Amino acid sequence: MEEAILVTGGAGFIGSNFILQWIANEGTPVINLDKLTYAGNLRNLEHISADPRYKFVYGDIIDRDLVCSLFVRYRPRALVHFAAESHVDRSIRGPDDFVRTNVQGTFSLLEEARAYWTGLPEREQAAFRFLHVSTDEVYGSLGPNDVPFSETNAYAPNSPYSASKAGSDHLVRAYYHTYRLPTLTTNCSNNYGPYQFPEKLIPLMILNACSGKQLPVYGDGQNVRDWLFVEDHCEAVRTVLARGRVGETYNIGGGNQKHNLELVETICAILDELRPADPVVPHRELITFVKDRPGHDRRYAVDARKIERELGWKPRESLESGIRRTVHWYIEHEQWVNEVTGGGYRQWIETHYAR
Ligand code: NAD
Ligand code: DAU
Repeated sequence: MEEAILVTGGAGFIGSNFILQWIANEGTPVINLDKLTYAGNLRNLEHISADPRYKFVYGDIIDRDLVCSLFVRYRPRALVHFAAESHVDRSIRGPDDFVRTNVQGTFSLLEEARAYWTGLPEREQAAFRFLHVSTDEVYGSLGPNDVPFSETNAYAPNSPYSASKAGSDHLVRAYYHTYRLPTLTTNCSNNYGPYQFPEKLIPLMILNACSGKQLPVYGDGQNVRDWLFVEDHCEAVRTVLARGRVGETYNIGGGNQKHNLELVETICAILDELRPADPVVPHRELITFVKDRPGHDRRYAVDARKIERELGWKPRESLESGIRRTVHWYIEHEQWVNEVTGGGYRQWIETHYAR
């Protein structure tokens, strides 16, 4: 397919936002390879499902024959790799899938990309990119007065999730240094916005608050995250793909550091305004402090000056407007919410929060 890109994990939260934005702005074809785990949802992409520029392929990134066949068939000019197991709490309960998909799966993609890229004519070889989407969690945890993570920070991952992402980042780095595969890596802070699976903090709190369920805040609620609206992240990835220097890594962040408790209170205040008839109002009465996450990283903050300086990207959405947009989105997408909060979801919530 002329000028196609191959996206992995495009049915997940960030991947589906990325594909929707790509089709709207770039317009060139996208092949979406996704295993449709509990976190993958084709409903996210229903608006473009019949678009001739979009093609969904069901499968596992670890399946090298499948990945090879996609390279041969579609001759993509780039691979944008989102597919991963992404939830820290699940990685603590069951790390196996994290090592399998995040480390072994990335290795399979790298090997097949290398084989494909090696066989390309010189001009296409020079244009090809392997863009690996990663996380700020690989840098570990910051103290209250530490400066934000920069691209030169040493890796110090603390959870099975972040360790598996760190492993994949190292493999990507090695494939550039050893084989000169034209790689790019992005390390982004916490995303929020439409289509996020409600196991993560912000959608979980919105949905629980609307239905009068407890708002489980881990520990003392003073852990800090640096929040970025998902569409800003997708724009950053598009920017790095278009103009990033090969072999480099780019940190992406929102410059929005917030304590978890303060963030949950902000969500509650917005809901008080929008939904005065909910079962429990004011919604903040539902806040409940629960047992802390083991090994819970205290603070993340990202120094995103490199991507701004070199590539001119910076976030557009403020945290205040982004949270408001997100609350509206979850309230207005009841059918989507009902579909993703079925049996498997209820089982996760019951087991995880029963502790
Ligand atoms: P997600 O869990 O919402 O989606 C992951 C997607 O990958 C799903 O569609 C799932 O079906 C698919 N997938 C999982 N295993 C697969 C496999 N073996 N083969 C093919 N597909 C598979 O994740 P997300 O929040 O959208 O995160 C996307 C990427 O961005 C991940 O690599 C994550 O580490 C990274 N990231 C996420 C955040 C965040 O705040 N969510 C921040 C920084 C970086
Ligand atoms: O920093 C980027 C990372 O952000 C991504 O790489 C991960 O894929 C993504 O899941 C996210 O990780 P976090 O662990 O920071 O996100 P989560 O939404 O799970 O939690 C955010 C904060 O809220 C964290 O300090 C834990 C806390 N929390 C979370 C849940 C689910 C609670 O207090 N209660 C909860 O019920």
